[in-house]
Amino acid sequence: MANKAVHLPVVGFGGTLRKDAWWAGPAVTAAILLAFIGYATFRAFENDFFAIDPYLSPFYSPLIPTAGFGIPFLSPAMLILPGPAGFRLTCYYYRKAYYRSLAMDPPACAVGERSAHRYNGETKLLLFQNLHRFALYVAVLFLVFLWHDVWVALWWKTGPAADAPRTFGVGMGTVVLFLNSTFLSFYTFSCHSWRHLVGGSLDSFSTAVFGRFRHSMWRGVSRLNAHHMAFAWISLFGVGLSDFYVRLVASGTITDVRFF
Ligand code: FES
Repeated sequence: MANKAVHLPVVGFGGTLRKDAWWAGPAVTAAILLAFIGYATFRAFENDFFAIDPYLSPFYSPLIPTAGFGIPFLSPAMLILPGPAGFRLTCYYYRKAYYRSLAMDPPACAVGERSAHRYNGETKLLLFQNLHRFALYVAVLFLVFLWHDVWVALWWKTGPAADAPRTFGVGMGTVVLFLNSTFLSFYTFSCHSWRHLVGGSLDSFSTAVFGRFRHSMWRGVSRLNAHHMAFAWISLFGVGLSDFYVRLVASGTITDVRFF
């Protein structure tokens, strides 16, 4: 029997035959992304409560003092946030998230898009997405700073003087910064570009230089890569909450708990 052609109805924006709550995912995604962007923007302009010894907010790390620049409203956060923001903006997972939730182009599978147009791929306006591998190098550099902050958060002053000796200690803020760096590391090293870099680009591990080592790395990264979406969200919440925690302590709203 000859196959019969199936004619789907022509649909406009949001039109679909789907009966499930397809809009819930994009709506929640948009709400979270916009809330995070709003909070990060507020903190970048606030330029206060970002550090209290021995803690430094991840939004302000590395800390580059801007007071001497003579530029109104310029905060240290504004200088460094483009680095991690560029990494997330060009992330292969986040592209799907914001194409659907913010651009609604289309908002979901089998749902009418915002405006019908020819598919251009990631060319023209979206060509910058190809810079992701370079954003990865920057992100790895930021991890070095963030892990250094965790190390610094382990050494507490023994007196009020600026040059007072320091002693080993762990507070709630240390734990918060440690978890933040851990989740950001999982997010960074589960990146598709990182996977390509450590071994995905090879045709043959057995003939490549350090092939056995790179194969082990590639297998490990592949396991992480399967959870990249989860790491993307956990680390986004993590970095926002870490900054919020430092802000609460630095502003005197709460008192940090020191475990030992
Ligand atoms: S693909 Fe998401 S960070 Fe590289």
